[in-house]
Amino acid sequence: MQKQNLMEGFSNVLEVWYLSKNRDLPWRKVRDPYAVWLSEIILQQTRVAQGISYYERFLEAFPTVFDLAKASEEQVLKLWQGLGYYSRARNLHFSARFIASELKGVFPSTFKDLLALKGVGDYTASAIASISFGAPTAVVDGNVYRVLSRYFGIDTPINSSKGVKDFKALAQQVMGISNPGQHNQAIMDFGALQCKPQRPLCSSCPLQSSCVAFGKKLTAVLPVKEKKIKVRKRYFNFIVLQTSDQKTLVEQRTGKGIWENLYQFPLIEASETLEVQELIEHQTYLDLVPDPSATLRLFNPKEWVHKLSHQHLYVQFWLVRTEHFKHQLISIDALDALPVPRLIHKFLEIHDFQ
Ligand code: ADE
Ligand code: SF4
Repeated sequence: MQKQNLMEGFSNVLEVWYLSKNRDLPWRKVRDPYAVWLSEIILQQTRVAQGISYYERFLEAFPTVFDLAKASEEQVLKLWQGLGYYSRARNLHFSARFIASELKGVFPSTFKDLLALKGVGDYTASAIASISFGAPTAVVDGNVYRVLSRYFGIDTPINSSKGVKDFKALAQQVMGISNPGQHNQAIMDFGALQCKPQRPLCSSCPLQSSCVAFGKKLTAVLPVKEKKIKVRKRYFNFIVLQTSDQKTLVEQRTGKGIWENLYQFPLIEASETLEVQELIEHQTYLDLVPDPSATLRLFNPKEWVHKLSHQHLYVQFWLVRTEHFKHQLISIDALDALPVPRLIHKFLEIHDFQ
């Protein structure tokens, strides 16, 4: 089916589905942005079933934004208790005070102004703008990612930057403009009740005939989430020796791993950024530079960060002037002929051994 037809079919069917299946939730009885805001912030922390009682207790304790603004932080945190991530509660309180005092209690009404509130991101601003003010701003939460990726058969990882961008754009495209707030809540409910994470209810799904994931038996693999590789941080200290007759010391890397067989200045790897005192007490340094009259200077006061796919290198180059050494040195001019890592090459381009 053409993508355009897929899209039109999608929002129409969704709307019909919602009219009979929507959940009767307390915040759906209101359009008051303050109440909608409360509900959306709470629902980022918990499931709908548990969120309802929190929502009701908050509204009872603080019926308006002025009441929340006047509350003590302790009261707010007490009501939030059990939801975790207490900075959300603090942001809520902070923004209530801001609205009560700076905005004289008038809740921001556009996506942009909502987004400027502390603790309000793209999702919350879109939700409030659409539900309370009828703006066509699409929400994208976990439900939305799942429904869209399955129905349209999209395998772009939802946690990649391309995924975030593409799904936001698609959510915006499929948004029915006649009732944006209802559309947003419909797609979230559809994800929660019908197109569930595990074992979606495809056999009773009104979108089944045009759903790509159903047709291609991909419901179990969509949406795709990228495994974030753990980046290893490494702290490299290169010791750049220099003698008065323009000689220095290099070593060749051996073994597997990065920069195999390339040449580098003697390297001291540490578990964190080394200070000068730590360096000169390091056994490897003492072996390398036994000369107490050597002068030492850090070439780059700000570490160079060199990003490889699985590791980030934090690199410091230490310049050492010395005449006493135990090792076989080479002339600085000879460095040009040696294969070196890009990082060292960059250093050599900048540093001119005067
Ligand atoms: N999850 C978060 N906000 C929601 C809403 N307004 N409707 C349904 N599910 C939600
Ligand atoms: Fe989701 Fe299944 Fe419906 Fe497709 S057919 S939208 S996978 S519930």
